[in-house]
This record gives sequence, structure tokens and C-alpha cells, in this order.
Amino acid sequence: MNLNRRRFLALTAAAALAPRLVIAQQPSHEGVRKIRLIAREETRTMLDENTSTNLWGYSESELRLVQGQPVEIEFVNELSEPSSVHWHGLRIDNAMDGVTGLTQKPVQPGETFIYKFTPQDAGTFWAHTHHRTYEQLARGLYLPLIIEEPTQPDYDRELVMMLDDWRVKQDGQIDQNSFADMHDWSHSGRMGNVLTVNKQLGPQLEAQAGERVRVRLINAANARVMTIRAPLPGWIIAKDGQPLAEVATLQGSLNIAPAERYDLLLDIPNEAGAILPFGFEYQGQFYEIAQILVSEPTGTLASRGEPKPLPANPIEMLSGEPGLKLKLEMQGGAMRWLSEATYKGTRLSGRELMQRQQAWALNGIANMAEDPMFDVASGTLVEIEMINNTAWDHAMHFHGHHFQSNSANYPASSWHDTLLMAPQERVTIRMPADNLGKWLIHCHMIEHQMAGMKTWFTVS
Ligand code: C2O
Ligand code: CU
Repeated sequence: MNLNRRRFLALTAAAALAPRLVIAQQPSHEGVRKIRLIAREETRTMLDENTSTNLWGYSESELRLVQGQPVEIEFVNELSEPSSVHWHGLRIDNAMDGVTGLTQKPVQPGETFIYKFTPQDAGTFWAHTHHRTYEQLARGLYLPLIIEEPTQPDYDRELVMMLDDWRVKQDGQIDQNSFADMHDWSHSGRMGNVLTVNKQLGPQLEAQAGERVRVRLINAANARVMTIRAPLPGWIIAKDGQPLAEVATLQGSLNIAPAERYDLLLDIPNEAGAILPFGFEYQGQFYEIAQILVSEPTGTLASRGEPKPLPANPIEMLSGEPGLKLKLEMQGGAMRWLSEATYKGTRLSGRELMQRQQAWALNGIANMAEDPMFDVASGTLVEIEMINNTAWDHAMHFHGHHFQSNSANYPASSWHDTLLMAPQERVTIRMPADNLGKWLIHCHMIEHQMAGMKTWFTVS
């Protein structure tokens, strides 16, 4: 892939004033809320005003649900190939998890599937395809999934910023020939050359002078860890949808791995007309990816001190000794090539694995094994020592559960559904296993997942 420097993270000089994200439906607080969500083709202007890019996406620009309110989402597949929807980070019924081949059959073109669940956690989540994800996600099949608190916590406005990088050719179309590129799969994953926020290049978001704004950051990229610099110091109030028990101060930049989310609070200065840039740091350079345009306040705003933590979700770390202790070793990839691993029940050499597009393994097994990595009774505290014995970063994601870690790279008391691990890093996590069913564990650098970094566990 020839990286075009001028277009890399290219920004139009005068970004058109983008409309604010629209709330999809007004929540009704009674009964079951019904929503229709269509997967279909769409076009966006991504490179410049005269070039439209063909993408895939959903019929809503975001989904807003209310904590504790049951919902039925009728998923309609208007694409030309099968798909599914995974509600990333939601602790819901296993049958609704959207993982084709494990929890449901793929939804065929023209068919529908009804997802029914009641979100128990308020926070910032996202929904995305979980079928041929390496291609469907890279084509844009995702959207923000916001679970609102029943009463709004103390801030004035929300801004959702869903980050993505796209591999776009000179003609403005997605590079389709490199979806299954074995070099990407065995190295860093698919990296793009255009970075967008909410599928727009350099959008201008709005806030009023003096407001306290909640920014919901979501990384939807296939593989890129993004280093984001907020325009002002502020606070981190949640990670992966779960409130921090103690608000952390935000200074400097924040690394956000694929699938991770951060909720920030920023106090907009009293300067109508100011433009506040969000930056992306890359190889020592600062690129602007979005702006907040500060407008005149329309009312008087309370001045506030240090924010309080968000109301806690119904999640608790189990006390006492773990009922199960395991090791999870990440292996393989370029520069630490697998010499052998088990794939579909057979021990294969590194070369045989590569012929099957497998370059990574977890505990000596490449890709899904017939048996789960572990099987626990509900209510067990599971402790896993995670060891990144590769030369690459990995964003390890557990389905249906959140966990805590001893990683020094995150605010204390963070809960995770996804955790970034640097090469050679070791981290111990503790996860209360309490959601029945079959759940995936995989790297959210989707190409790593495809090329072997995937396993599963059961809770019974
Ligand atoms: Cu975000 Cu297996 O998923
Ligand atoms: Cu990985």
C-alpha cells in the first residue's frame, strides 16, 4: 500500500459546518421500545467535496437507548451478503450477542433478525458487524450505541466522536483488494490513510461558551491505536462504558485502541467564536481531526467545580480469592513467527499455518478451538495473567463481561471490555464471570483475530 502523504489524514481547509448528530428516536419510558436498523450501502464525501466514497452503514446515525428499558431491534439486512450485529460491551443475553458461528446464524441478504435485550449499564458502547468483520467493519458497518442514564448526569451537552481510519485509493473508493492481505494480518493489521470522525473529514462540532460537555470517544478502526489530544484539560469519567469510581484528570494525550471508549468532560471557555481543535498525534506530528466551534451562550450556566463520578452501573468486583486462575499468552506474528500451533484440532508447522492464513495463537492454539479455553460456573471470579509474547500491540476484548486489571496505562478503577497490551507486556486481569453462555475472547485488531488470535469461554 502506497501511503499518500498529502492525503494522509487530509483535512479540507474550510470544513463545512456539519450538522450535529441527531437523536434517532425519542425514548418512551414505558413498554418495549421498537427500532428498525437497516444495514445498507451508503455514500460519504471523505476525500474532498467532489469525491463520494461508497461505504456500508446503518440507517441510523446513532442508537440511543435508556438504561433498564427493554428494546427490540429489528435488524434488516439490505446488503448483498450475510451479516449480523454485535452490541459491543453490552452485558446481555448470549443469544443476542451477534457472533455468527457461535451465537447465531448469519442474517442473509433480505432477511431480518430481532435482537431483544435490556441494557443494564448506562454508558458509551458501539454496535458493529460480527460477520466477515475484517471486511464489513473496514467498509463502515458500525454505529455509536449510547445507553443513557435514566436522569442526565450533571453536564450541558454531549458530543459523540467516533474515530476511524480508512484505506482509500486515489479515486476515493475503499481499497478492496487488500482486505485479506496476509502482510496486514501478520503485522499491525489494516491501517488506513484517511482519518474521520463520525465518518466525516474534520467535522466542526458545536458547543456554547461556558458549557460542560461530555465527549464520547469511540475507536472504530480495524487496527489503529489512536493518540488523541483534547483541546483543553478536562476529566475522564468512564472507560468502555463503565464509570470510573473516581474521576481522573485528563492532561495531554490519550491512547485509544480499537474498540475502546472514553467518556470525557470538558469545560468550554467563555469565549464565543473560539475554535477548539481535537488533535491526532502521529509520528511526532499533530493533525487536527475535528473542532469544537464555541457559540454564544443562550442561557445562564451554572459554574461548577470538580465533577462527580457518574452514577455507578450494576457491576461489582467479587471479593476473595479467584475461583480460577489462568494464563493467556499471545503468540506469533511477524518477528516472532509461530513455529507450530494447533489449528482445527491438528498440530501444524508455521508454514502450514501461513498457508491457512494463520499467523497468531493464544496458548498454542490458532483460531477457535473445539473446546472453550475455560468453562466456569456463574459467579466465579476468574483471574487471567495475560502475556503479550509478540512484537505487536493487541487490544484484547472479552465478550459479555467487563474486567479490571493491574495495568498502569489506565486510570485506577477502570473497567474494561477491551485492554491494550504493548509488546512483552504482562497484565493480570480479574473478571467476575456471571453471564451465561458462550463468549469470545479476541484481539480487536480485526486482522489479528482473523489470523488466529481468537478463543472462547463458557459460563454455566
Ligand atoms: Cu467489538 Cu468480538 O467485538
Ligand atoms: Cu492483536
